[in-house]
Amino acid sequence: MLERRSHGQVPDAPHTQLKAKDGRLLYEHCITRQGFDGPYTIAYHDKRPHEALPAADTPISLAAAERKPERLLRRHYPSPGSALELEPLPRHRGRLLENADVAISLAMPTRSDAAYFANADGDELYFIHSGSGTLRTLLGDVSYRAGDYVYVPRALLHRFVLEGSGTQHWLVMELRHPLGLPHSYRNSVGQLRLDAPYSHRDFRGAVLGAPRDEGLRDFWLKTGGTLQKYQLPASPLDVVGWDGSLYPFALSIDAFKPKVGKVHLPPPAHATFESQGVLICSFVPRPLDFHEQAVPCPYPHSSVDVDEVLFYSRGTFTSRRGVGPGSISHHPRGIPHGPHPGAYEASIGAKHTDEVAVMLDCLQPLTRSALAESLEDLDYHGSFVASAGSHSTG
Ligand SMILES: [Fe+2]
Repeated sequence: MLERRSHGQVPDAPHTQLKAKDGRLLYEHCITRQGFDGPYTIAYHDKRPHEALPAADTPISLAAAERKPERLLRRHYPSPGSALELEPLPRHRGRLLENADVAISLAMPTRSDAAYFANADGDELYFIHSGSGTLRTLLGDVSYRAGDYVYVPRALLHRFVLEGSGTQHWLVMELRHPLGLPHSYRNSVGQLRLDAPYSHRDFRGAVLGAPRDEGLRDFWLKTGGTLQKYQLPASPLDVVGWDGSLYPFALSIDAFKPKVGKVHLPPPAHATFESQGVLICSFVPRPLDFHEQAVPCPYPHSSVDVDEVLFYSRGTFTSRRGVGPGSISHHPRGIPHGPHPGAYEASIGAKHTDEVAVMLDCLQPLTRSALAESLEDLDYHGSFVASAGSHSTG
């Protein structure tokens, strides 16, 4: 997805010999996307990287329950008040919304992963609403903190090592097609353009340390909506070097440099990542529109081709009442949406917003889980009617 990077020992040419100090041949591990046509990284292992064997444990199904047809409503899921530990090891995720392109979940972990994990069902993009720690991967460590996006390529072995005690709070997006940066941000040689909202320097790629053995041998693989357990014969963190364009990274949402318009800009002006059927946008603090007659608040709209999901992280959300940090709203296609009563008028003259939020525009309709249903703020849809009076869910 990004520019080529290189860590540790690699031979002068791919597919040629690299030897340890004792003369043993090291093992190349070519990680490729889109068959062999997409981005790739070549890692070099001390041991053969393909010797994991299935454990005796029965695979765990993560298939979502079939949903009955539901009324089309704007929906709001306030932040859960306590840790969600609803799915089996090794993940502590609660799936909320899903279509064929993306699954949107919450994770509220309280402890480090006790096993390695790889998701063969898609790339993963985390948004760290709260918490900090280290993403430990085959290709090295990535430190993370609140406000970071954390990207884990499909099927890359990893685990999260949490810092401190208490509950962390993450938004988890599983993208079933490759995640990338918008093509319009690239120049003719693939560099990020000077007017892109971030630069290569903003992406904190994995840093490879010395090979290590954490003593862990359990490895969970998510594939086809199941979790399957494998046993590793030795530590998988035996990579001595790698080279390529496919690697995990963190990007702080605070590094995103927003565009500002004379009048209100539509959400794609804030595009941060894209995948087939999904556009991910970052709303960050910025000056508001500077036309003397501007209405800075988003106008009511019918974006008839997308389901819109917003995760509210920090600041004041001028267009929506009743949402707070950690809230998720889902506004489906088919019915218009817009600001809460009074917000449109009250925005006139506003010069600045301090909101921090992540938005997903999803081309396929999203269905929701029983967990989402259990979290729902049932007053939300009606709260957009001016005569409904004040509305607050905290
Ligand atoms: Fe919208």
